[in-house]
Amino acid sequence: MSMGTTWRTPVCERLGIAHPIFGFSHAVDVVVEIARAGGYPVLGLAREMPHEIPEILREVDARMQGRPYGVDLMLPSQVPPRGDIDGVRAALPQQHLDFVAGLRERFGVRPPVKPSFFTSQVRSEELFESQIEQVLASNATGVATAIGLRQDLIARAKARGKTTFSLIGSVRHARKALAMGVDVLVAQGYDAGGHTGPVGTYSLVPQIVAVAGDTPVLAAGGIGKGAQILAAMAMGAQGGWLGTLWMAAAENHTPPALLERLVASGSEDTVITRAHSGKPCRVVRSAWIDAWSEPAAPDALPMPLQQALTGDVFASMHEHDDARLIYEAAGQSVFAIEGRSTVAQQMQELVSDMQAAGRRLQGFARGGD
Ligand SMILES: Cc1cc2nc3c(=O)[nH]c(=O)nc-3n(C[C@H](O)[C@H](O)[C@H](O)COP(=O)(O)O)c2cc1C
Repeated sequence: MSMGTTWRTPVCERLGIAHPIFGFSHAVDVVVEIARAGGYPVLGLAREMPHEIPEILREVDARMQGRPYGVDLMLPSQVPPRGDIDGVRAALPQQHLDFVAGLRERFGVRPPVKPSFFTSQVRSEELFESQIEQVLASNATGVATAIGLRQDLIARAKARGKTTFSLIGSVRHARKALAMGVDVLVAQGYDAGGHTGPVGTYSLVPQIVAVAGDTPVLAAGGIGKGAQILAAMAMGAQGGWLGTLWMAAAENHTPPALLERLVASGSEDTVITRAHSGKPCRVVRSAWIDAWSEPAAPDALPMPLQQALTGDVFASMHEHDDARLIYEAAGQSVFAIEGRSTVAQQMQELVSDMQAAGRRLQGFARGGD
């Protein structure tokens, strides 16, 4: 193994990428840079205004210059057929409305000015159908889905030659995804930023590898260093899938107060809460998140109601860069955020840390042929 060993797995060959590094981001600029650095970027579209998605995809295609990339949707079941936000808001329980009104007053929450997904949309079947059509029509070479597995989408994406990815957090979900013909399993552990299950990445990966057969597995959740990617590869994964780390990149345009919070936070400053979306979601703590675990706080409402209740506050804290309230989905991997960086630097560090880890392992090897 030479100093410059490059780690490349079969899934890299299949997707046409240089490094087994998969980067999830909602920011087009991040996605473009991950691709330029030889990783496989996956653009999250679950938070975009539906009418803006075609333009976003056109921009990505133009800037990608033929490099491969994926897109990601969140498609939970049990959402209303149509997303009438006013209708949903009118039906929210009074206890919850009162609690949030109290928090708005306590924290002096200013109304958001810019229109956004969080202030105007409710996840619904109608929304998902439009997202799916747009994604299928795009040049993305991959389609990933988090919460919610849809046989129909998987079959249609594969029929168009797209590689399908499914984020799963348990063996049961992996089996379901495999039965639906998913091409790549993303074993996403409890450590991950965003919606997550109860099993840690280090325990989950070998279990998923054991049931995946020939289907490649990627490891997600808690990864901030190249050595962790190599460790996942030692467990049989074919790469690492990272989300939190990119928020430190200039290309993510992270609000300054949020970046400061991420830099100051360690793994123990992230918590799993239903307060963001109604489903368990790991986020970095803030006064807003903490308020939902006070004794007087009601239980969060189920998805998509919690977002109809609090989406404008989330939009507001980001728009106004509110240092007390601002939070975001973030994993235990937040330990690796030490300051502002760029995607190119981050990719380079991940690759060289994989190489260093490989040399460390080699140094431990004894005997044999
Ligand atoms: C800010 C943020 C937003 C996310 N949104 C989504 C999403 O919309 N869809 C999805 O499949 N995963 C989403 N994720 C999860 C990532 O795909 C990935 O599994 C996770 O970030 C991996 O763990 P890490 O955060 O420790 O790197 C999000 C993660 C973060 C940090």
